Amino acid sequence: MNYNIALLKGDGIGPEIVDSAVRVLEEIGKRYGHVFNFTPYLIGGCAIDACGEPLPRETVEGCLASDSVLLGAVGGPKWDTLPGNMRPEKALLGIRSAMGLFTNLRPAKLYPALKGDCPLREDIVANGFDIMIVRELTGGIYFGERGMRQGKYGEEAYDTEAYSRMEIERIAKVAFETARKRRKKLISIDKANVLESSRLWRKIVHEYSEKYPDVECADMLVDNAAMQLVRNPAQFDVIVTSNMFGDILSDEASQITGSIGMLPSASLSDNTRGLYEPIHGSAPDIAGKNIANPIATILSAAMMLLYSFSLKEESDAIINAVDKVLLAGYRTADLAHGAPSLSTTEITDKIIENL
Ligand code: IPM
Ligand code: MN
Repeated sequence: MNYNIALLKGDGIGPEIVDSAVRVLEEIGKRYGHVFNFTPYLIGGCAIDACGEPLPRETVEGCLASDSVLLGAVGGPKWDTLPGNMRPEKALLGIRSAMGLFTNLRPAKLYPALKGDCPLREDIVANGFDIMIVRELTGGIYFGERGMRQGKYGEEAYDTEAYSRMEIERIAKVAFETARKRRKKLISIDKANVLESSRLWRKIVHEYSEKYPDVECADMLVDNAAMQLVRNPAQFDVIVTSNMFGDILSDEASQITGSIGMLPSASLSDNTRGLYEPIHGSAPDIAGKNIANPIATILSAAMMLLYSFSLKEESDAIINAVDKVLLAGYRTADLAHGAPSLSTTEITDKIIENL
């Protein structure tokens, strides 16, 4: 089969980690007889530098015309002082919205080989954990009304959290379907003791719960969830939550897997065209040094094969190769704790050898 993939390398370590994932995909193509055509487009700071805007129209059109999109990361200190709607991060929100990517899947699991990297006490993670975070991605405070105004005490800024029934229903459905294919346990995280939007969220999740009697469903307040994630992560199977809570909790979840450099993500719409990216940022401090951990991006490519192209065997081949490389003790600097480590390109070579 022939697949057209738009590449949004972005800023900082983005180009290095995307190049690694491309090499892995090319090898998969060779072994399994697929052709992956890659077309690069600008996004983020590099797009601001080249075209004066973070999300050029050609980029949006290129992504919408492709079968799927692989993204590195955007942003960096160079563009940090630009006004909000010109920041690189705005491009990320723009492309998520333009592609209708309302579902963000962020799997966080403890690799047996990385048990020693988990900052939690050994007895807490004795049996590991395997969590799927389903984060709503095109609504909530990220996309609500915002602005500046004169308030009682002068200058005032505001952002609004709003969720419609439609937005909650479609993410709830994805979450229940996801749980149904896993351990059938869903925890919906909100702040219903304070927020009206959370109360509607909770009400609709309960309605869906009736339609999925085979899935055990419970609510959890977000502050408690932040605590439970480090107290007993194994209690979680599937988590469903709003855009901002999902952003925060997925970073927390990534830390207990050992490194934020390990977590892939899939952003999905109601068609098969998804956007796949590591959950971490552009790490400007280590950009261009060939030391970044490319595994989150390589695993994002594996998610693309599964979710956009239904190539399960090929996707599993990547996941197993990463497993083998970690079990063999190979590490990038973020996981080496000062011991000798492999570069970005070297660990990619190892993963390719193990495909
Ligand atoms: C993420 C990032 C983005 C987000 C930023 C860069 C806008 O933190 O993908 O988690 O908050 O969604
Ligand atoms: Mn984030």
